[in-house]
Amino acid sequence: MTAVLTDIVDEIKHLKARENATLLAHYYQDGEIQELADFNGDSLSLARAATQVKTGTIVFCGVHFMAETAKILNPSKRVLMPDLDAGCSLADSCPAPKLARYQEMLRLNGRKFHTVTYINSTAAVKALSDWVVTSGNAQDIIKRVPEEYEILFVPDRHLGQYLQEVTGRTMILWNGSCMVHEIFSVGDLLALKRKLPRALTIAHPECPANIREHSEFVGGTEAMVRYVDKIAEPTDFLVATEANMLWQLEHKVPRHRYHPVPGITCACNKCPHMGRNTLEKLRDCLATGRPEVVWQPEFDRAKEVLQRSLLR
Ligand code: 13P
Ligand code: SF4
Repeated sequence: MTAVLTDIVDEIKHLKARENATLLAHYYQDGEIQELADFNGDSLSLARAATQVKTGTIVFCGVHFMAETAKILNPSKRVLMPDLDAGCSLADSCPAPKLARYQEMLRLNGRKFHTVTYINSTAAVKALSDWVVTSGNAQDIIKRVPEEYEILFVPDRHLGQYLQEVTGRTMILWNGSCMVHEIFSVGDLLALKRKLPRALTIAHPECPANIREHSEFVGGTEAMVRYVDKIAEPTDFLVATEANMLWQLEHKVPRHRYHPVPGITCACNKCPHMGRNTLEKLRDCLATGRPEVVWQPEFDRAKEVLQRSLLR
């Protein structure tokens, strides 16, 4: 570690203790942030971990909808984020007023439906929903939607399409996508497979069908860790998800070799929103108590939906 890095890491540790803060980080954060965290996880385990935090402050290293979810599920805590502008292309693709108009149009046409919303969405969209799902619990939640209701699935059309395939339920799909998972190059994946013919491909369900169909395993980030951990023999894995996930896989299950599936324009595919959180901004938010995620009127209704969906 360089002296500058050691200095900032020490500063963060000192400030974290001074502020009595718990640091939660998503698996897509840089390794140096994940290393500092009290808890790393996928969206579902982070939401649940937020409810268990005992310190007065949570510092959330992830994107905005994740920090918002932590605040909603544990409202008495001060929730800080290194960069409040760390957004998500999926959340952006589904503005609440547009969803409300679409739901109204379906109702006027006599359609009976439940809105099942991926957690990668704003609190205002969650407040318009019957259920919130993550890649970790989506299939279980879909089983809870009575057969006589159609499912309006928002905002990720690729995850929705995958869920249609595995649950057999047809869905009305919103036309959103993740800017990271959508741009894996199938040509490069096939070239990697030719180079490493014994390798297994693991893909996130936010990937389009042309990547999923070449994958031995499809699952969310936590499920990926469980999958590789079950394989005893050292194996090559081609990983079709955000490239920082490799740090977590190498850290938790180091006996395997992991290769990032490239994006169409880059050798490894990183989320620019997650990348807004840096060690410097993490230090500054601990030092100043800003930026903070503050309670919004739509959080009350979003809380009911989140609790029903993720905690029961
Ligand atoms: P999970 O970690 O829940 O699999 O979600 C991935 C993701 O895209 C988060 O933005
Ligand atoms: Fe959103 Fe995709 Fe980034 Fe996840 S990886 S935060 S879904 S843009």
